[in-house]
Amino acid sequence: FPKAFIFDLDGVITDTAEFHYLAWKKLAKELGLSIDRQFNEQLKGISRMESLEKILALDPSLSAMSNEEKERLATEKNEYYLTLIDQLQPDAILPGIEQLLKKCVEQKVKIALGSASKNAQTIVEKLGLIEYFDYIVDAGKVEKGKPDPETFTTAADYLGVPYSDCIGLEDAVAGVEAVNSAQMFSVGVGSFEHLHHADYVVEDTSELIFEDIIKQYQKQRE
Ligand code: BG6
Ligand code: MG
Repeated sequence: FPKAFIFDLDGVITDTAEFHYLAWKKLAKELGLSIDRQFNEQLKGISRMESLEKILALDPSLSAMSNEEKERLATEKNEYYLTLIDQLQPDAILPGIEQLLKKCVEQKVKIALGSASKNAQTIVEKLGLIEYFDYIVDAGKVEKGKPDPETFTTAADYLGVPYSDCIGLEDAVAGVEAVNSAQMFSVGVGSFEHLHHADYVVEDTSELIFEDIIKQYQKQRE
């Protein structure tokens, strides 16, 4: 039986992945660039600055930009993002998530957050979910972001749980990769096209049923 569930935040617990996308799209537009959802898939799960770098790489004439200017743009994106999440409330918790958290508590499975966001703590508080979490790993707690496994291994180490007894839930390609390289069981939430490297894929969070996840986990561990 697994001992811990480690949840990604943006796009798994709440739909802030959409707000990140909208904020990047607006910033890109100001730079004379256009990004679409397909492009956005590679921005999921990675840090703010890494996302900016990927956008800037679309236009070679932007490659000479100074670090100060990059910082300014990253801050601008975050300010816009913060206005989008300002009104975030418990009704923004995605379907099935709170039931899943409750099941974990009931079954004595530990719960951690594994997020690349500097805004993670604030968001979990706004959603009213903070009490569920035994530990929160955010951008400030790791040196190497996803797809490096550090986000997930840091959570497991703190909880004192072997990696093979952990389940990581992710909507990002980089996130699933991080869970896999931590030797944990990966659950991908989203399209199979992007997340086929996960051990188990569901299309949306309403399909994150505790018993189903456990069944798949046990089947793989047999
Ligand atoms: C991740 C998101 O959770 O956090 C990314 O998937 C985002 O899209 C990253 O860029 C960093 O978030 P923040 O809030 O620190 O800018
Ligand atoms: Mg995510």
